Amino acid sequence: MRVTAPLEVVVLAAGKGTRMRSALPKVLHRLAGRPLLEHVYRAAHRLPQARIHIVYGHGGESVPRALAHLEARWVEQAEQLGTGHAVAQALPGIDDAGTVLVLYGDVPLICPDTLQRLVEAGGDSGLALLTAKLEDPSGYGRVLRDVDGRVQRIVEERDARPVERAVQEVNTGILAAPAARLRAWVGRLGRANAQGEYYLTDVVEMAVADGVPVQGLCVDDAGEVLGVNDRVQLAGLERELQRREAERLMRSGVTLLDPARFDVRGEVRAGSDVVIDVNVVLEGRVVIGDGVSIGPNVYLRDVELGDGAVVLANCVIEEARVGRGARIGPFSRVRPGTVLGEQVHVGNFVELKNTAVAERSKINHLAYVGDAAIGRDTNIGAGTITCNYDGASKHRTVIGDDVFIGSDVQLVAPVKVGDGATIGAGTTLTEDAPPGKLTLGRARQVTVEHWTRPRKGGAG
Ligand code: UD1
Ligand code: CA
Repeated sequence: MRVTAPLEVVVLAAGKGTRMRSALPKVLHRLAGRPLLEHVYRAAHRLPQARIHIVYGHGGESVPRALAHLEARWVEQAEQLGTGHAVAQALPGIDDAGTVLVLYGDVPLICPDTLQRLVEAGGDSGLALLTAKLEDPSGYGRVLRDVDGRVQRIVEERDARPVERAVQEVNTGILAAPAARLRAWVGRLGRANAQGEYYLTDVVEMAVADGVPVQGLCVDDAGEVLGVNDRVQLAGLERELQRREAERLMRSGVTLLDPARFDVRGEVRAGSDVVIDVNVVLEGRVVIGDGVSIGPNVYLRDVELGDGAVVLANCVIEEARVGRGARIGPFSRVRPGTVLGEQVHVGNFVELKNTAVAERSKINHLAYVGDAAIGRDTNIGAGTITCNYDGASKHRTVIGDDVFIGSDVQLVAPVKVGDGATIGAGTTLTEDAPPGKLTLGRARQVTVEHWTRPRKGGAG
């Protein structure tokens, strides 16, 4: 078996991003819930044998600190002297035998397939450039080819002559080259140009002079290589990415009542015949079973919805599992650590936290249940509250199967309610309630005879 040389991916992320007008380094601005740089990392990570080097600089340690979970080698570029200088910072940690692929932390929509094709176009010894044809090429470096269509060099807009500026094929900046060659070329870069910077793009001319084949691979979809320079472009890319994600879900069997009013900020897996109404935001890891219906204005983060579950309008559900056929909402708030069994009903203005509710139980109106376990076929009345917090620690409430808790009950935890128990309305339960019996704790009702209500301005 041939052992292939590693693919050394160098991601440039040291630039200032002045036009973002932000204290946050540009590559940490979020797209679909993830920092821009993480999108690039994920695309690179999918390439076989990839070793990822990230060049950071502006914003200092805040960038590697925010993205410490990435498996990458962080290389500092203390002063930003140009793209060639940035690549030079990473080269000492790169083996001569490998191929270097240069990516940009602010070009987040690049697809692994395109990168793979680029690396293959370069082969073991050539230089491969990713280019794009743009209606309006302004701002970009132009790709200059000879009469036979062979790439000759790249000229930056500020250094270009008018005829060169008319060229519509632009440099995306993304390129692949053999490490040893690139090291030699980068070592020879000068900064005699309009910006006084070490331009990585100058390596193209050097390759041509050295007789190294240069392939210019033009992307089919220029959307993939769009960069983010300001917040307007960031919003444009967000819409592009959301459109892609919505289309993927619709093709897999999800009905989106309006794909333009649906946002995914994480990973979504959905079954078939799922219907999602408008203004739904899905964050983190969301798993949606077959036949699930989600109403308008719903926020789900790290949630699993079983087959046939129904989430009605205006619910917030976080870090929770919802059983098959369960019905939640409208206006329910389900907080982390909640597990709802099959066919459980949770209704309006109900807040649940760290609570397990077994099958067919109902909490339909105005309740707070936290740090609790509720058995099956139990009914929790309107206005019920678990008093789980004594000001210092949290305590558990355990409610059995087939229990009936009347309205406006306070369960002062730690407390247990046995199977089949009934708790009378208005009870403040401070001790365990035995199974199968009615327990209530409320003052007996009295009617006061001969009492008159004081009246304003009355006789007297
Ligand atoms: C560069 C290309 C240009 C191409 C364009 C595509 C050069 C000289 N020009 O121009 O041909 O059309 O990208 O967008 O390469 N960076 C660093 N350290 C630095 C300088 C830049 O990490 O010292 C990073 C930036 O953070 C940015 C990227 O490199 O992500 C590109 O830098 P930028 O200054 O935006 O290059 P352009 O002038 O746009
Ligand atoms: Ca740029």
